[in-house]
Amino acid sequence: MSGSTIIPWVVGNWKMNPMQANAQQLIQDLKQHLLQEVVSEHDCHIGIAPISIALLSVKTQLDDASVKIATVAQDVSRMAGTGAYTGEVSADLLVDSGIQFVLIGHSERREIFGDNPQILSDKIHYALNANMTIIYCVGESLEQRESGQAEQIVLQQICDIASVVKAEQWHNIIIAYEPIWAIGTGKTASPDDAQTMHAKIREGLNQITPEGNRIAILYGGSVKAENAVELAACADINGALVGGASLNATSFHQIALAFAKQNK
Ligand code: PGA
Repeated sequence: MSGSTIIPWVVGNWKMNPMQANAQQLIQDLKQHLLQEVVSEHDCHIGIAPISIALLSVKTQLDDASVKIATVAQDVSRMAGTGAYTGEVSADLLVDSGIQFVLIGHSERREIFGDNPQILSDKIHYALNANMTIIYCVGESLEQRESGQAEQIVLQQICDIASVVKAEQWHNIIIAYEPIWAIGTGKTASPDDAQTMHAKIREGLNQITPEGNRIAILYGGSVKAENAVELAACADINGALVGGASLNATSFHQIALAFAKQNK
């Protein structure tokens, strides 16, 4: 158990959604909810990860919200700086545009776009060098869970990055445990199963870094307003990475409130 002074994070992963007009409306609605019931940044941090071309417009809209909301990139190039890399956006360019947070290693990137441990290590290395905060996603498939390999797979994914993160950079790492079988399926890991895995991840982190008890471990996979309170009550679940439910301002706000209230 973290013991914990960790402020939770609730991050909306919009994936390849929505159209521009809907994105603007979604943010306006979220701001409205936050005006009615504030989520203090002392109780819970909030982030939104829009599509890459919307990062700057979303950031502009979020920057004048009544509470601080971080704009999060969904991915980053494995190349640094600037250069002849068509289609890529480096961590340095994200930071140059005021984007300080990035998701790395989402299972959709790993499975569909071939992000292997070497590519992920490069991305993490350069993102940390650019002083970004990384939400590093880990998680097992259904097959791996059913064959009893879930813990081993997840701990290996943590170990994959251990040699890239320097001792003084762990405070810029957030972990998101997202069992692949729970993503977008409506099936959530039970709070007990999620807590068990989070405690294992915590143990693994503690073996790698003295910062282990200070690292936020988010849960992701069909988090919604209806299950957020139970998940938030688990000792080592320090927030949520929310896909589908983040496309609804009311649900997303409820999830943030669930974690904020738990942390009070
Ligand atoms: P979901 O997605 O909440 O729609 O399951 C979570 C994620 O993939 O980050």
